[in-house]
Amino acid sequence: MRPSCRNRKNRLKSNKGVGALKLDTKLLKPTFPNLKFCAELLKSGEIVGVPTETVYGLAANAFDDGAVLKIFKAKGRPHDNPIICHVNGLEMFKSLTCERSQVLFNLIDRFWPGPLTVVVEANVANLSRFVLAGLSTVGVRFSSSNVLNELIGLCGFPLAAPSANLSKKPSSTNATHVVADFNGKIPAVLEGGQCEIGVESTVVKVERNRCVVLRPGFITVNMLKSVVKNVELSAGVVQELQQNDVVESPGLKHRHYSPKAEVVVVRSELSDFVSYVSSKLNEKVWCVVADGEADRFSNFVLTYGKNLAEQAKNLFFVLRRVDDLKIDKVFFRCSAEHESELGLAIYNRLIRAANFNIINFES
Ligand code: TXA
Ligand code: MG
Repeated sequence: MRPSCRNRKNRLKSNKGVGALKLDTKLLKPTFPNLKFCAELLKSGEIVGVPTETVYGLAANAFDDGAVLKIFKAKGRPHDNPIICHVNGLEMFKSLTCERSQVLFNLIDRFWPGPLTVVVEANVANLSRFVLAGLSTVGVRFSSSNVLNELIGLCGFPLAAPSANLSKKPSSTNATHVVADFNGKIPAVLEGGQCEIGVESTVVKVERNRCVVLRPGFITVNMLKSVVKNVELSAGVVQELQQNDVVESPGLKHRHYSPKAEVVVVRSELSDFVSYVSSKLNEKVWCVVADGEADRFSNFVLTYGKNLAEQAKNLFFVLRRVDDLKIDKVFFRCSAEHESELGLAIYNRLIRAANFNIINFES
């Protein structure tokens, strides 16, 4: 389901953004010859857009300093933000770390391949120092994308890949969005359709028998608890970090996911939300609500799904549509549903998109 738009004058085509562009970046179907072509690009130190089940990634050889630096340059990424390494199985994972704890392997057994990144002590002998960004640990993920795993197999090395979006901007959940951000800056994007999940992986750090969630995602706290008893949320997940706070994951302190428009998160019941925003809406000021809530507004409303799974899948799509519509300000309604489980992954992205501009009606 795509987000819908109730402003009849402004009905949008999906994937707007690259239709009129001259494509200097190749958009490639994931055929075997194209996968081999991309593997050759990666072996020669180039960077390539790749699909995963969460969001698209911008990939480079994780052992090649020059290639990894190109990712930072293309994204405008702060150099203190480490990059996740993607592997295609346990053997490659074990080459990146000496950690073998039972809890770690229980998590991997249960959730790999899938949307879980584990932060482990890095085998620094082989990884690019730019992947580590000054840390002794590395985030590793075995995605369930066959296209990505086949590509890693053809390369024979792990792929360092952050989300394929310009730094601070919404992530890309289809290949067209990757081209919109990087046309002419990267040689190719592998087309893998729309990402199934739509929000980035859950990032966890395992410390003895404790699991700390550094970034919430599709693998929720309760799912983690089915494997590890002691699961905690890092402080930065739902709260703005202050200058002197200890940062467990550098990405938590950077601005993220923001469209050009000002985003305001409103935590409220639907009736309070309707009373609060209705008089403020106009061509330049819109609101975003769940499906089924839009008929409370006559105009200037976007919807992004009827349940949390759909909202996660469409979140970045709708944030990018806000830019396509050239809106100045957008109010997002959040409810009690966004306090836990998959809702927390959505809320974590929204409060960053809003630069922590949150209006609270709920106690
Ligand atoms: O689903 C995903 O995880 C996507 C796809 C492409 O795999 N990747 C992704 O990467 O979201 P990125 O770089 O946009 O976000 C990775 C997050 C950042 O917030 C980073 O700070 C954190 O993971 N991270 C990476 N390595 C870390 C480490 N060693 N310790 C703590 N946090 C780490
Ligand atoms: Mg990112």
